[in-house]
Amino acid sequence: MTRLAYDTFCYRGKDLFVEGVKLADLAHRFGTPLYVYSGGKILSQFESFDRAFNSVPHTICYAMKANSNLGILALLAKAGAGVDIVSGGELFRARRAGVPGSRIVFSGVGKTEDEMTAALRAGILMFNVESGEEMDALARVARRAGKLAPLSIRVNPNVAVDTHRHMTTGKAENKFGVVMNQAEALYRRAAKNPWLRVTGVQAHIGSQILDVRPYGETLKKLLDLVDRLAPLGIAPGILDIGGGLGVVYNSERAPRPIQLAELLLPLLKGRSLKLLFEPGRFLVAEAGCLLTKVLYRKEPGHKNFVIVDAAMNDLARPALYDAHHPVWPIRKGRAGRYVADVVGPICESGDYLAKARALPRPEPGDVWAVMAAGAYGFSMSSQYNARPRAGEVLVVGNESRLVRKRETVEDLVRGETIPSFSRGGNRP
Ligand code: LLP
Repeated sequence: MTRLAYDTFCYRGKDLFVEGVKLADLAHRFGTPLYVYSGGKILSQFESFDRAFNSVPHTICYAMKANSNLGILALLAKAGAGVDIVSGGELFRARRAGVPGSRIVFSGVGKTEDEMTAALRAGILMFNVESGEEMDALARVARRAGKLAPLSIRVNPNVAVDTHRHMTTGKAENKFGVVMNQAEALYRRAAKNPWLRVTGVQAHIGSQILDVRPYGETLKKLLDLVDRLAPLGIAPGILDIGGGLGVVYNSERAPRPIQLAELLLPLLKGRSLKLLFEPGRFLVAEAGCLLTKVLYRKEPGHKNFVIVDAAMNDLARPALYDAHHPVWPIRKGRAGRYVADVVGPICESGDYLAKARALPRPEPGDVWAVMAAGAYGFSMSSQYNARPRAGEVLVVGNESRLVRKRETVEDLVRGETIPSFSRGGNRP
């Protein structure tokens, strides 16, 4: 076990740097709120995962829902990663970033036939199918397109993981996957369908997982299924065990990929199966921060508030999951210990980024970095309260690039029209 330090972000003198770039310079150049990512950190996370499993055939398909910026996708694709997609929009982004179809897997409980058609045309590696009806739809799509659909069934292994209740997916009560005792019958049906090619078996048990043991349990259940299918002449060659590896947000101890490998690889001895992983958070969370400027302080007496220019529309995780994100000043030097709630301008009490956090007492204009915000930060952001979404910057070494422009107010109304029946009517 290791406690990962945010080694990519460190102070030199009084200033916080990401790799070779001073965050104050980025805030000055591009304004706030601003997401900043370290490409070096993303690549080193990817490589540590890749290395841990280099003794067996494997593909790491980045769960791009964590952060689907094109600059990040292209960087990972260049390093050899594939992607796990969950929508036609993610397929479009992945293709635009140059991810080859042969490295794309398609997950999700509700793929539409249009989405399936687009993915089939793109020649993806496999569809992780989650129900019998979805399987029938996939077969229809394949027949229409005249192209065999590679299929894996996502099973629900009924394995518990210790994480936030919104982030467990592999328990029987969750909507995901096919219950174990129905999976075999589905594979039989798939094997008989001339338009489906049984390619793999998949499970994804949850997110922000800090104890690797449930992965072992899951793998055993998947292997059990593979062994039951073998006498029927059904041989899924790819074992996809999803994503979910946790990271450090606060004081937790996060497992490393090598520990996952030490647990899983012995179970696979003597088998010629290809492993597939779908990590999202692990690859990008610690590589990103959200820069935000202090607007005002408010001191009603019983507590303090620091009002900043980023809000729950930029980073929803605290409001949604009570998630903890460290907050670091990008320039050290203020004295004193000031305990405050760090809140945004949105008109909701749930709009906060940090609660009862001890920081040096800020002055308006100071910029803070909300750390470990690279995963499910921008990708879950919205325009709520008509707030244009933040810009995004990718840093590698001493170079920084704006990989997404900050939205303007014009972006807020793109695609909207005012119908004639809404116009006019100058009532007194
Ligand atoms: N594969 C599948 C099928 C998934 O549903 C997910 C995440 C992943 C892979 C990647 O999981 P990861 O390695 O990132 O844990 N919005 C939440 C996280 C939701 C995760 C949903 N599924 C958050 O902000 O923490």
